[in-house]
Amino acid sequence: MGTRLPGNALAFKRRLLKWFRSLGRDLPWRHTRDPYRILVSEVMLQQTQVARVEDFYRQFLARFPTIRALADASPSAVRDAWDGLGYYRRADNLSRLARIVVERYDGTIPDDLDSLEALPGIGRYTAGAVASFAYEKRVPAIDTNVARVLSRVFPRAAGRHLSRSAAQRRWDLARRLLPRRRRSAWEFNQALMDLGALYCTARRPKCLECPVRPNCRTGAARRSTTEPRSA
Ligand code: ADE
Repeated sequence: MGTRLPGNALAFKRRLLKWFRSLGRDLPWRHTRDPYRILVSEVMLQQTQVARVEDFYRQFLARFPTIRALADASPSAVRDAWDGLGYYRRADNLSRLARIVVERYDGTIPDDLDSLEALPGIGRYTAGAVASFAYEKRVPAIDTNVARVLSRVFPRAAGRHLSRSAAQRRWDLARRLLPRRRRSAWEFNQALMDLGALYCTARRPKCLECPVRPNCRTGAARRSTTEPRSA
């Protein structure tokens, strides 16, 4: 891992944050720092689109407003509330997780990556998302969309999207890119998600309209709407 950031890194950060602060998406789980609510949103978002999650998120939290309420519910009641979201293993894992958190942590969702990752259904991405979005910890949250953004903006440092060693390099790079202020680090992680959802899409990315195009190694070189080669 190099110690110097890529030459476009600081300008990219500045431009991304500026764009996010005025045009980032207004999503319900961005109005809270309640770790339980953030966790529910992130588990739902693991395999379900934002628009669909928005409705289910509200309904689910109306039915199970706290982690204790979830822990007290039967797994079948939780699966019932999950109906329509699919991938029902997520509901079973959430039930188990809630009981573990109540028993082991007195109902407080942990804030460190290792403890989070030890919980059922929580991988590295979701652990990072909870630590960042609920606790404003300065840690990366790299899902497939963010990985794609990083590998296009920083093709040399972040590597090709699908390689395994690139995942570790992306994590190192993302950690070094994080703004110093906790609140800004929260914004930076959310902003990468919005960029991936709105412009830096897997197919037909909108490079020509992208707010960070001048600071992106892939987008800056594009003149038409053909596929970029680097991701
Ligand atoms: N996908 C996963 N986590 C997300 C978040 N916090 N905001 C938008 N999309 C997401």
